[in-house]
Formats: sequence, structure tokens, C-alpha cells
Amino acid sequence: MLYNNPNVAKRSISTTMPKKTAKKPAPPKRPKVTGPKTLEDRDKQYLWHPFTQMQEWQKEQPVVVEKGAGSWLVDSHGRKYLDGVSSLWVNVHGHRKKEIDQAISKQLGKIAHSTMLGLSNDPAIHLAEKLIQIAPKGLTRVFYSDNGSTAVEIALKIAFQYWQQKGHGYQNKTGFISLMEAYHGDTVGAVSVGGIDLFHRIYKPLLFRSYRIETPYCFRCRYNLSYPECQLTCLMHAERTIQKYASVTAALIIEPLVQGAAGMILQPPGYLKRIREMCAKNNILMIADEVATGFGRTGTMFACEQEKVVPDIMTVAKGITGGYLPLAATLTTEDIYSAFLGDEREQKTFFHGHSYTGNPLACAAASASIDLFRKEKTLLRLQPKIKLLAKELERFRKLEHVGQIRQKGFMVGIELVRNKVTRDAYPVEDRIGSRVTKECRKHGVIIRPLGNVIVLMPPLSISQQELKKLVDTVHDAVRSVTSARPQQPAPAPAGNGPDAR
Ligand SMILES: Cc1ncc(COP(=O)(O)O)c(C=O)c1O
Repeated sequence: MLYNNPNVAKRSISTTMPKKTAKKPAPPKRPKVTGPKTLEDRDKQYLWHPFTQMQEWQKEQPVVVEKGAGSWLVDSHGRKYLDGVSSLWVNVHGHRKKEIDQAISKQLGKIAHSTMLGLSNDPAIHLAEKLIQIAPKGLTRVFYSDNGSTAVEIALKIAFQYWQQKGHGYQNKTGFISLMEAYHGDTVGAVSVGGIDLFHRIYKPLLFRSYRIETPYCFRCRYNLSYPECQLTCLMHAERTIQKYASVTAALIIEPLVQGAAGMILQPPGYLKRIREMCAKNNILMIADEVATGFGRTGTMFACEQEKVVPDIMTVAKGITGGYLPLAATLTTEDIYSAFLGDEREQKTFFHGHSYTGNPLACAAASASIDLFRKEKTLLRLQPKIKLLAKELERFRKLEHVGQIRQKGFMVGIELVRNKVTRDAYPVEDRIGSRVTKECRKHGVIIRPLGNVIVLMPPLSISQQELKKLVDTVHDAVRSVTSARPQQPAPAPAGNGPDAR
């Protein structure tokens, strides 16, 4: 803005310019590109990858993806790989899906982007209607952003502001409750309600406080109990925390049914519903973070449906565009929306928005993706594949170092342990997950571990044959890596830090 103000520009010239121009320091030199370089070399020279120890990356031969089709990725050397984690949990109907390609091209012929601040656009309106139709009943307003973390950030800010504007008696409701191993994204608010020590520890001084309830991690139960005899003891403790902090809490945030980045930790049946009831009873908003679980990943459109839960706020991203373009949405009830209404003097506006909020290309892709769910009966056709996946995973139980297999729909975590009886975890320096990933890659399958947990999350459109290949390859890789004698800590395959997301 300053540049557009001629007075400011003039003033700065007349008062700050020295009479004689001193010799300017030389600008930093750009690294020279010498000789013909491969894409891999240029990647290493210029890029900084997310969740990646770049020192390790330099030693590796990265896969540079050039194209894809269906469940397959093709690298710059023409090698094919099965996309076993849906390109970081985003792809739904496969790559190069005709209908989504066409929807984007069609929208491109009209306009690529215009702002939602003070203007609206057709694809954003259309998509909002569609999202409301498929979302749990009661969620009636859509606020767009561009990724899961911002959708969460928005949810937290809305929850906070809601209570501030609700009237007297609620001003102290400023805190949040979250689960211990939660992951809600990488922005500072999302990290504040996160609980993955490795990722979040360093930022502690930057974060706001969040009260924690235990993760129902049955495989490593803190109370040494087993489900169902435990009668969900962890929930009793959760209830105590919720009651204790209710008067100072704006919202509880939870990944419904599956805590993805924590290692595909599954909540026991009834857990989510009870949490919902506790929130309602204690006057706390419930935020369901469906960023990972949404759009069919757990077998239903949204995970909340399986326990007939309607949250007050729901965040979605990842699969919303079928895995095509960055887009996210935060859905709320009419009650929450209404708390932000008032004339300008009241200053109840939600002062939040991004440059690309409601981007028409992304919204067009998302609409096409939702249409495909209906047209191709994606969820119906998914059910036999979920069963097949469960059946194929059975044989992992026989492997000596498989501690637990966790599956909810098409979200799978296979936890590897050093000792099956004691459930001793592999030490971080063994990089067991990374080694399995590397082995799979040699055999044309891309997966990405979460520490010692091997993750499978293929596109919903994967064929039964491809699904079998995925499980076969991962099975053989787990067997060969875990049965090998302990060796020197292996370098991670490119892109996998010790506990990489
Ligand atoms: C539950 C959950 N919430 C939020 C996020 C953050 O999403 P994004 O990576 O798009 O910022 C993730 C990402 O894995 C997630 O799993």
C-alpha cells in the first residue's frame, strides 16, 4: 500500500536519499547452474522439502514424479509406481480423472481466480450447496481456505470468537481441549492443539495452552486394560478433564474415528459419540477435524456419520478436490454463524480470509469430485474393497514383528514392533518404517510411514488387482526388512525423516 501513496514516496526520496550515493553492497550471488544437470540434481540444489531432513535427502536418489494416471505415478525416467498413500492422503478417484480434468479446463476457459473478499463466484456457491448436502445435517455454512491447517486455524478462531460474542458469562471460554497424540496441521494454532512431540516440541514457547485428554490408544493402553472389558476407562478420565475446564474452554477438537498422523490410532466404537455428548452437556463446541477422514476415506463420506455425530464445526481439506488442487472448508452450524451477525459498529465480523479463498478452479474440481461420488457410486463400490483389504491384511498377523494392524475403511496402519510379546517399539535410529518404504519403492510401490507404523491409504478408485499388488508388496517388504539381522542405521529413503508425516 505504501508504494501507492505519492506523498510517502516523495517524502522518502527528499529526506532519506543521501546526496552522494554510497557504493551499494553487492547482492548475494545466485548459485550458478553449471553444465547439464538432471532434475534430481536441480531438486537438490534449489528445493527445501517438507518434513524432510535435507541432509539425508542430498544422499538419496529422489523420485521426481512427472505424470500419473489412475492409481499410478510415473517418474521422470518413465518408471511406474503404485500410489499407495494417495499422494499424501488426497487422491480419491485416481489421477487424470477425466471428469475432474474437464471441470478444471472448463473453468479455466472462464476465469482462474477472483477474490471472495467483497465478491463471489459461481463454483464457490455451487460447491457450498453440495458440501452442505453431504455434510452431517445441521452444518449449514461454509467458510473456504486452502489447506487442512488453515481450515483448523479458522475453526479455532471461530470457536473462540463465538463465545466472545455470545454475551456475558462466556468471556472466559477461551481455551481448547484436544487429544494427546493429535495432529491438526502445521500452523501455530493447529500446532497448539497438536500433540505429536517430535513435530511440536520445539514450538512450545509460541503456542497457546490446550488441555489434553488421552488418546484411546488401545494397543498401548495407559491403564493396562483391554477393550471392551475396560469399559472405556479413558473416557472417564476425559470426562473429568472436560468438566474441570468447561467454563474456560471454547471447543474440543478431535479427529473423528481415526487419529491419522499419530499412526492410524482407531477410537473404540462409541468413543466419538460419548465425546460429542460430553461437549454438549458441558457447553463446549465440538470441532470434528475431517481433513484426513473426510470424503470416503473411512468407508462413509465423513467419519462422524458412523457414530451419528453432528459436530458444531467441521474441517475438510485433502480429498475435497479429489486430490487435484489445494482447497479446504470449515463448516459451521447456523447458531455459530448467527453469533457473527450485527451492524458494522458492533464489530462482530470474522476478520479472516486468504488471497485464494474460494478459488474457482479448486471449487470446480471439488464439485466434479462430489458429483463422481454419486455418478460412480464410489462409496458403494468401495465396500467390497474394504473387505478385501481386511482379508489381505490378515496374513501380516503371522509376521514376527507386526504388533497391530489397524484398519478403518481405506485407512490402514501396521505397527511394527521389535518384540511382539512385550510390544517393545523399534528405536527411532532403526528407521524401520523408512526401510520398509524404501524396499517397497524398489518394487514399484510408493508408501510413506509414520515412524514405526506402515501406512496404506490408496485412492478409493484402486482396482482389486492393484490393491492386492499393494498389500503383497508391502507384506514382502515388511517380512524382508524385519527378518533381516539388525544392521547399521539405514539412511532414510528420500523424504522420510525419523517420524516423517
Ligand atoms: C487431521 C488433520 N488435520 C489437519 C491436517 C493438515 O492438513 P494440511 O496438510 O492440508 O495443512 C492434516 C494433515 O495430515 C490432518 O491429518
